Amino acid sequence: MCGIVGYIGKANAASVLIGGLRRLEYRGYDSAGLALLDGDVLHVSRAVGKVANLNESARADWDAELFQRAGTGIAHTRWATHGPPTEANAHPHLDESGHIALVHNGIIENYRSLRARLEKKGHHFHSETDTEVLAHLIGDCDKGDLLQAVRDALHQVEGTYGIAVVSSHEPGRIITARRGSPIVIGVGHGESIIASDATAILAHTQRVIYLDDDDIAVVTANAVDIRDLDNLPVTREIAELGLDAAAAEKGGYAHFMLKEIHEQPDSLANAIRGRLDLQIGSSVLAGMSTSPRELADISRVIMVGCGTSLHAAMVGEYAFGDLADIHAEARQAAEFRYRNPILGNRDLVVAISQSGETADTLAAVREARQKGAFVMSLVNVVGSTIARETGRGVYLHAGPEISVASTKAFTCQVSVLLMMALKLGRGRRFSRDEGLKLAREIEAIPELVRRVIAQDDSIAEIAARYLENEHAFFIGRGPMYPVALEGALKLKEISYIHAEGYHAAELKHGPIALLQEGTPVIVVACEGPAKDKTLGNVEECRARGARILGIITESDHEAEQVMDDFIAIPAAHPLVATIPATVALQLFSYHVARLRGCEIDQPRNLAKSVTVE
Ligand code: G6P
Repeated sequence: MCGIVGYIGKANAASVLIGGLRRLEYRGYDSAGLALLDGDVLHVSRAVGKVANLNESARADWDAELFQRAGTGIAHTRWATHGPPTEANAHPHLDESGHIALVHNGIIENYRSLRARLEKKGHHFHSETDTEVLAHLIGDCDKGDLLQAVRDALHQVEGTYGIAVVSSHEPGRIITARRGSPIVIGVGHGESIIASDATAILAHTQRVIYLDDDDIAVVTANAVDIRDLDNLPVTREIAELGLDAAAAEKGGYAHFMLKEIHEQPDSLANAIRGRLDLQIGSSVLAGMSTSPRELADISRVIMVGCGTSLHAAMVGEYAFGDLADIHAEARQAAEFRYRNPILGNRDLVVAISQSGETADTLAAVREARQKGAFVMSLVNVVGSTIARETGRGVYLHAGPEISVASTKAFTCQVSVLLMMALKLGRGRRFSRDEGLKLAREIEAIPELVRRVIAQDDSIAEIAARYLENEHAFFIGRGPMYPVALEGALKLKEISYIHAEGYHAAELKHGPIALLQEGTPVIVVACEGPAKDKTLGNVEECRARGARILGIITESDHEAEQVMDDFIAIPAAHPLVATIPATVALQLFSYHVARLRGCEIDQPRNLAKSVTVE
């Protein structure tokens, strides 16, 4: 949520910063800003809207030479929390004297009281943001040493922050710090890049340092000096990103979302590769690092997540229950810690998150650890906070997911959850043959998905028939119920059609009142124990004039007949089928949004990584 970039070094800082912001734009994109240090003069430019607007306004504000010359700067792309997306609220914010500039992710919770105190001291504020208060506070603490001033200010702050600060009085350095909002520092040759997300660093270096909470770093072109809040030196390892810069590019696709949908056969193959043991009919998930005895001891699996990751958790609930005979629950992460969950050391808590930074999921992890549960993560972004705090976990290996609407992360999450359930199931009730059968089904997932993606053009033709209605319903039963929820989420977030997901049986308990002639009902009715009942629910909708799009199993002529349109997916185990069924819905939503002319990769009001509670 919000993107930060800072640069100090030999290159043209403005280009590096704007390039970095473009890569981070998926994190927040309602306004953006940039501060450049030209020697000991500070220049600031801000713009409402996309980074492209900032690029234009900065070039208009500044002469071309400054743009070329400046070697130090900080920049920000915003997702508004305090105050609407206006130029005044865009970062960087300045202190009272105007010589300190700050960009900030997170929320300063006690900003009102700090602001009142600073106003009494004669500070003037120009925005509604919490961030500007921190800029003034740092300025207020500045007695000639910026590092000391930042430290003193952070001691007074409640809430979360990832920040980068420059001062025209100390041009050779950038101060950066984190608490609850990620900061990663790229260590180049004669240059350093600070960012809230490694994708902004990829093009420059693979060598990075992740800050921990309460770290403050002084970053120069050639060194990174990290201290804690008491000014004691701390050592953080340099890690290798191991990511290909091209992975964060569109690579010829019209949108990141389409690229990421099409990447799924490969991302799923990466998530599954080396993790199935076809000798013993189980899975090998090194990150679970549990002995068979520990596994046998687990009495409950609780999965926490938000948004799409919560839907993956809900599929996981069925997988653990059906395959491993184990009580499993998917819990909305934001609720988890406030419900004072009853947990013990036989509970396995799995935090599911693409970004590994979602504030609510992180808070749930901390609560579960506090209560002595066995906690692990299922995360995509390597080195992210949740991955590091849980210590043990399984990476998705889906590669960078840039589109705000999550696609490949979801399917990889579900495939890893299936492998986890297989592992637990094999340790409890599965015979080798049963385990082997499921392992082979999981192994085939990339191919199943490839066969759905091959229908891209025909799915686009179907989508063209669903552009006009402003409401749509998605229904399913069993593991296809969370698939229906995910389908509705995809459609509403990128096409702005009001879409609701329901359990197929629930529709008649209220929502059916909304069905009219032609109202779209998208039903996931693949082969499985729940299919016949789902088709019964379809009849109820047809009787009320709904237009039915079915996601059904190939050659299921009975199901074909009750649908106005259908997308057929290959036959598979009902849990495995959740993945190709979801891919069909992803493509459907994508094409509906594209044909409605929506801005697919950056839908209004959303952000990719939600680091506020
Ligand atoms: C945001 C994103 C969603 C995502 C959710 C959870 O709302 O827009 O696509 O599912 O956060 O994110 P996580 O990174 O924890 O999976």
